[in-house]
Amino acid sequence: MKDIYILGIESSCDETSCAIVKNGKEEIATIISSQIDIHEEFGGVVPEIASREHVKNITIVIEKCLKEANMTMEEMDAIAITYGPGLIGSLLIGLEAAKTLAYIYQKPLIPIHHIAGHIYANSLVHELKFPLLALVVSGGHTELVKMKDHFQFEKLGGTLDDAIGECYDKVARVLGLPYPGGPKLDQLAKEGNPTYPLPIPLHDDSYNFSFSGLKSAVINLVHKEKQAGREIRKADLAASFQQVAVESLVSKTKKALENENIKYLIVAGGVAANQKLRIEITNMCQELGVTLSIPPLKFCTDNAAMIASAGYYAYKLGRRADYYLNSISSCPLS
Ligand code: KG4
Ligand code: ZN
Repeated sequence: MKDIYILGIESSCDETSCAIVKNGKEEIATIISSQIDIHEEFGGVVPEIASREHVKNITIVIEKCLKEANMTMEEMDAIAITYGPGLIGSLLIGLEAAKTLAYIYQKPLIPIHHIAGHIYANSLVHELKFPLLALVVSGGHTELVKMKDHFQFEKLGGTLDDAIGECYDKVARVLGLPYPGGPKLDQLAKEGNPTYPLPIPLHDDSYNFSFSGLKSAVINLVHKEKQAGREIRKADLAASFQQVAVESLVSKTKKALENENIKYLIVAGGVAANQKLRIEITNMCQELGVTLSIPPLKFCTDNAAMIASAGYYAYKLGRRADYYLNSISSCPLS
């Protein structure tokens, strides 16, 4: 059978990335240009600056990727592109680059939803087995998605307000940690004990999450302690926050696995790098006899290899976009 090479492009937030993946599972080359250092001084991603950086980087990243793979555009079978959700200006830069390449080289254009990309990051390490449950946890998303087959997504639940990564980053900022605070808070929590009482978010029968109340509880606690002239035990507060946040993710995921009788779980997105989440979710899966797949850290955060991998399965299913494809800042996974 002929090998299929997909060139993927991802630019939905603050990473400009291009990758080439063979047959949906073999990473040939991935280039990521991260803007973290640029946005760090603002404490979060500044959309206009992000778009300008993507403009500067996009062609460089694509050229570097082809060079690293030692391949040419002519050898690509299709171009997969993240069309949404994300920052609209950022998305548009990647999309225009993908459309231009598709037109010049007369290659099919494959539209990929960013969350589908995060889920398919797992294909780069294991073959997906269905039915599966995916817990997608990132700076912009917190979703439980059921899949009966390739590209058959059924959203079981999601966050009603803040995404988990966004919540981590905001709590980290209150604790004085630099952006993006999620990984630093994860580190700090290891040095503390969960001694601060915090509310358990949305402890109900749904598969939804809510993290804004937890975030506000931490902010209020910090203000009150400051007003009372008491020193914040930062590591203990980080551990307390992390305990409640992870417990919320694990308990809702467990409920969905049990009720839907699913034996295969994928955890994807930037927050899948979280050490406590990895430990707790592994324990829960062992208890339920569920097979767990978490991609290596390099495929957890935004990258184009996951888009190219998803692009392969979409390509096999005959999914194509025309040149009217537009970027969408917010769109359902369907
Ligand atoms: O998937 P991603 O790269 O971008 C989005 O699609 O949003 O995820 C980035 C998010 C950030 O909020 C970052 O703080 C969080 O993932 N993150 C973590 C950890 N590593 C990255 N959050 C908690 N613990 C970590 N170890
Ligand atoms: Zn992402």
